[in-house]
Formats: sequence, C-alpha cells, structure tokens
Amino acid sequence: MEVVIAPERELAALAADAIESLLRRRPRTVLGLATGSSPLKVYDELARRHTEDGLSFAEARGFMLDEYVGLAADHPERYRNVIATEIAERVDWPADQVRGPDGLAVDLPAACAAYEESIRAAGGVDLQLLGIGTDGHIAFNEPGSSLASRTRIKTLTRQTRVDNARFFDGDVERVPTHCLTQGLGTIMQARHLVLLATGKHKAEAVHQLVEGPVSALWPATVMQLHPHATVLVDEAAASRLQLADYYRQTYASKPDWQGL
Ligand code: GLP
Repeated sequence: MEVVIAPERELAALAADAIESLLRRRPRTVLGLATGSSPLKVYDELARRHTEDGLSFAEARGFMLDEYVGLAADHPERYRNVIATEIAERVDWPADQVRGPDGLAVDLPAACAAYEESIRAAGGVDLQLLGIGTDGHIAFNEPGSSLASRTRIKTLTRQTRVDNARFFDGDVERVPTHCLTQGLGTIMQARHLVLLATGKHKAEAVHQLVEGPVSALWPATVMQLHPHATVLVDEAAASRLQLADYYRQTYASKPDWQGL
C-alpha cells in the first residue's frame, strides 16, 4: 500500500494524473466512481483537463460504488444525479456509459446481481476512486461487512446517516436508511484502488485502514490485501499514522516519472 501525504490540491492532481494516463493509453478504460466530498477536487481537475487539454471520456465506462435506496429519480442527492453533475456532464461522457446500482428497482437483489454482471461484462474496473467514512466504511460497506461481500442491500449506520445529513439540509431523518453498495469483494477486484481522505475527522479511519489489523470492524482495512492500493491523505488525515515519516521518506525518494 502506498501512502502519499500532501496538500489536497496535490492529491487531486495525482489522482487525476493516474486517471488521465489510463484514458490516454486506452480510451475504453473502466473507471470506478465515488461520491461524497473526497473526490470532488479530482472531478474538478478532470473537468479542467477536459476543457483545457482535450482529455476525453467519450469511450470510457464508469461504474459507481453505491446508491441510496428509494430516492426519487430526480432527487439531487441520488448518487446517479450527483455523479452526472459532478463529473459526467462536465466532460464528454455519454450518459449511458456511466452506471450505478438501481436504488429504485422493484427487485433490489436482482438489480444487485445485474450490476455485478455489468461490471464483469465491461472487463472489470481499471481504477477505483474511493473515499472513507469516519467509521471506516468504503462505498457503503459498513462495519461488520463481509470482506468477501458482493453488491447488495445494506442498512446505513446512524453514524453514516449523521455524517451525510449535511447533504440533506442537516436533517438526519431525511437521509435514507438503506443503500445498494458494491461489496468489499467487488471493490477488491478493481485493478487499482485510489482512496482519498482529508481532515482530522478521518484520521482514526485512515490509521486503521493503513496500520490496523484487517478486520470487518474497519472495512477499509481489506485494502491491505490489495496488490495495488494508493492512499492519498492530507496532513490532518495523516495525523494518527504511526509510520508517517517513513511514508513521507518513501514518497520523496520515488522517481518523478513513476506514477501512482
Ligand atoms: C459516503 C459514501 C462513500 C464515501 C464516504 C465518505 O457515505 N457512500 O462512498 O466515500 O461516505 O464521504 P466524504 O468523502 O464526503 O467524507
């Protein structure tokens, strides 16, 4: 696992570099998309590169990590709409090439199975962007999630609903109680995992993710078992890392030409 400690703007540029390099090499790249505040600066940077440098998403495919159950099709916080607004519509990404689990399906388990199949049919995810919840969840894999889980229905913890209330006018009761989420086993099949975390409120989760024992109690720790995982954190999110100096030293001595 590579840990990079840098200011947020630099982290966003690094993640955008990794995505750009994939898209330039293979326009049909499959990108894994995350919602939440963590990837927003990456999306800003990609949109800028699209406008200024002609970076194209025209042939790329995108798969979202998760979706709330039951939010109306036109609800602005429905993750499908969030991703459309934050990235897909800011670049040349055809709407039908960006998919997410269907939180409005009548048969939710069938929708989860269909979603797994569509990722498989696309050849799997090349690069998966991730954020992390304060309780250590990735996507919506809450504590206690099976480390081998696949896309399924999950009940959100009170903590996650409180954390996400800011997107629902601060009213926790308006945050849905259930979601569909790629499982940890699904996420682990992506070829490169790139997780972003900023702010002191993420410091404990980041410490557990990088240095804690692999455990369902901190679901993100499963990333320790991934052969190509990158953790991009600012100083505040890195503040509880025991080996922070070593990560800094390792990254400082990395050749410039080598990407993430
Ligand atoms: C949300 C999302 C996750 C996200 C996490 C952190 O609930 N389902 O995909 O990574 O919580 O969110 P943020 O980046 O806003 O802190």
